[in-house]
Amino acid sequence: MKEFKDKIAVITGAASGIGRGLAERCAREGMKVVLADIEEPALFQTQKELQASGAKVLAVRTDVSKASDVEALAQKTMDTFGAVHLLFNNAGIGTVGTIWESTLADWEWIIGVNLWGVIHGLRAFVPIMLAQDTQGHIVNTASIAGLTTGLSAYGVTKHAVVALSEQLYHSLAHLNAKVKASVLCPGFVKTLIMEAERNRPVELQNETTRILTPEEEAIVQYMHQAVQAGMSPQHAADHVFQAIREERFYIFTHPEYNAAVHKRMEDILQQRNPSNPFQS
Ligand SMILES: NC(=O)c1ccc[n+]([C@@H]2O[C@H](COP(=O)([O-])OP(=O)(O)OC[C@H]3O[C@@H](n4cnc5c(N)ncnc54)[C@H](O)[C@@H]3O)[C@@H](O)[C@H]2O)c1
Repeated sequence: MKEFKDKIAVITGAASGIGRGLAERCAREGMKVVLADIEEPALFQTQKELQASGAKVLAVRTDVSKASDVEALAQKTMDTFGAVHLLFNNAGIGTVGTIWESTLADWEWIIGVNLWGVIHGLRAFVPIMLAQDTQGHIVNTASIAGLTTGLSAYGVTKHAVVALSEQLYHSLAHLNAKVKASVLCPGFVKTLIMEAERNRPVELQNETTRILTPEEEAIVQYMHQAVQAGMSPQHAADHVFQAIREERFYIFTHPEYNAAVHKRMEDILQQRNPSNPFQS
């Protein structure tokens, strides 16, 4: 897709961070923008600010982990703007803890948002986009953690998003569709991802707060600092739009992590035990 003006973009997780950066960029390209997010005050604030810049904006409170919410989002998008050309399945959250210490609530929450959120987005919007028979593009936000090892439940969901996106790419190519697909695999971006707990639903709250081990504390500290020092969401959006224009599937924003991806691929091919992605 190379022409964006007057086309329609749908962005989940649009009220903060990377999603907000994408929404601003879509507005600047002259697109009509549909903002979907679970955090209402930030959602409506984003809508107000984008409208003030002259964009046509629809904001829909959406929990992407719920199929009915995402189906309603698709319906409202069609009722308001009548088409969808760009879809960003971007909403995501992070949790802390090993595979076995993550609670069932942690697992349900992170798989619900990070994986089911993307599945619901594809099930609700791809049939509409295919039926339009116009140029379109879908970008699923995974992470560089979807291509390396070692980041626990979060990494598990992001590996799944990469696999899902690759499958989507093949299915669209098989149909010779005008709709293309990409997977966004960023390194650290300066967002509110480390405050993801703000959006954990009441029914998935943990009954007790587990005291983190010193190793977990160290990882959390490292992540906080790395996110704070991360790339701006606007810069990440530049990478995304360049990839859409080039119809490029893999979107890497941080070439410094290529070596970690390479090491994992080599580990697999040489049947070596998994390397630590944090050690060069
Ligand atoms: N920030 C990073 O360093 C980084 C790196 C790699 C990948 N990512 C991915 O980027 C995506 C965006 O995250 P971000 O870093 O901008 O964080 P963020 O917290 O700033 O933004 C995430 C947005 O998703 C929304 N959200 C959370 N749960 C939701 C739900 N159930 N339904 C709808 N919206 C929901 C939040 O309200 C928020 O507005 C995520 O998928 C994340 O995993 C982030």
